[in-house]
Amino acid sequence: GTPIVIAIDGPSGSGKSSTSRGVATALGYDYLDTGAMYRAMTWALLQRGIDVTDAAKVAEEATSISIVSGVDPQEPTITVDGTDVSGPIRTDEVTAAVSPVSAVARVRELLVQAQRQAIGFSTSAGRGIVVEGRDIGTVVAPDAPLKVYLVADPAARAARRAAELGGADATATQESLARRDQIDSTRAASPLTQADDAVVVDGTHLTLDEVIEHIVGLARDAS
Ligand code: C5P
Repeated sequence: GTPIVIAIDGPSGSGKSSTSRGVATALGYDYLDTGAMYRAMTWALLQRGIDVTDAAKVAEEATSISIVSGVDPQEPTITVDGTDVSGPIRTDEVTAAVSPVSAVARVRELLVQAQRQAIGFSTSAGRGIVVEGRDIGTVVAPDAPLKVYLVADPAARAARRAAELGGADATATQESLARRDQIDSTRAASPLTQADDAVVVDGTHLTLDEVIEHIVGLARDAS
């Protein structure tokens, strides 16, 4: 069928990244990780010594930070002012600071604009794109023909994330995910919420390949 935009939203640790990359690879689509963009912004602010709880300061600094993402699902890359930060954006320090940064309206304005540009670049070149985040189906790409809201049981999410982190404590990981979800879903500026026309996919009792296969099937129906 025609290449389409696929929005994949959901809470932290629901398996969005592995799923989105798998779906993009299976369909030969581009891939955009918007969470990586909020993380890159956070990394840059910390690097500049900015207090991330100072929203006015964050808004002011954000304007001068340039974030560029690659769209290859096999090898996602992200740069800040030309420096590859794919590794550093995954540290605990960035993870702990990202939710307050992404709650700042000006930050969202800047990044949503960059995200729409990236989507437009792919689609105008005739390519499909899988975009993952928290507000893709609701704000960034409300016209996406397929919107998935990916969920999983909190304990399952924590166990998976702890394993990814090389055997971190599952209880502490579950608390950290819950804290991030709490901030992400209660903020004023485009909170994490399910789009009315999103398909809910619960990955708790499915393998990664099963989730990917299911979404690829939905994409074939929608395109
Ligand atoms: O997806 P990931 O866990 O890497 O996202 C990191 C953080 O970025 C989220 O906890 C959320 O605060 C923010 N985010 C967002 N909107 C998006 C994607 C991520 O606010 N579309």
